[in-house]
Amino acid sequence: MLEFRAVSARYGKLAALIEVSLSVPDGARVAIFGHNGAGKTTLLKCGVGAMPGIDGEVSCNGTRIVPGAVYRNTRLGIGFVPQGHNVFKNLGVERNLGIAGLLHDKRFVERVYELFPMLAERRAQLAGSLSGGQQQMLALGMALMTQPRILLLDEPATGLAPVIVENVLASLLRINETMKTAIVIVEQNVKATLPVVERALILKAGRLVWDGSSAELARKEDLWTWF
Ligand SMILES: Nc1ncnc2c1ncn2[C@@H]1O[C@H](COP(=O)(O)OP(=O)(O)OP(=O)(O)O)[C@@H](O)[C@H]1O
Ligand SMILES: [Mg+2]
Repeated sequence: MLEFRAVSARYGKLAALIEVSLSVPDGARVAIFGHNGAGKTTLLKCGVGAMPGIDGEVSCNGTRIVPGAVYRNTRLGIGFVPQGHNVFKNLGVERNLGIAGLLHDKRFVERVYELFPMLAERRAQLAGSLSGGQQQMLALGMALMTQPRILLLDEPATGLAPVIVENVLASLLRINETMKTAIVIVEQNVKATLPVVERALILKAGRLVWDGSSAELARKEDLWTWF
């Protein structure tokens, strides 16, 4: 369970997140929507402790997430896949997975290959020569190497062709179902994302303005002007 209690975050004078409270239970699938600049990335950063100073508190299964100590927080079971393809382009696929799992069980790479056979087939290929969608899968695989209980994903499907978007989202569903990993996903493609989550949050100018079931949000298209 990842819990935000009245979390506010700022960049200098700019308030990017204002008194956000929410909790993500074990195994949940949650989407975060909102306009550009609404605070979605900032919210994920607070979740893994990548915002150095915040007001309020974030905790993971009762343990406080220490702002600024990302490596410590990931050891609590939080995986973070930042915006953009974050792979080591001049290293091979397997080396990338190995580095990601350095502080964890390296043998877990076989489990990642089971989930993404495409990566197993390309284990010796340079990450930079993978297609955009394949790099995204690798970034996901790297996050999985820490065997997280909760995975925070910042626009994992942006810029990908529709069929690849479906692939990425289907992979997330599979990870959630087979490994019981909770999924928190920021995504612009609302139509493709709503069916794979059970709950949706909407941020507007740093405030949480909606927290409800994805089915309900799918029916209420008048709310869609918020993102
Ligand atoms: N490093 C930074 N320094 C200063 N301001 C920042 C920084 N990062 C974000 N901001 C500001 O904080 C606000 C929230 O940004 P954030 O990146 O969380 O939005 P977002 O919802 O993820 O947007 P997008 O959909 O464009 O990714 C924006 O107004 C942004 O300009
Ligand atoms: Mg963002």
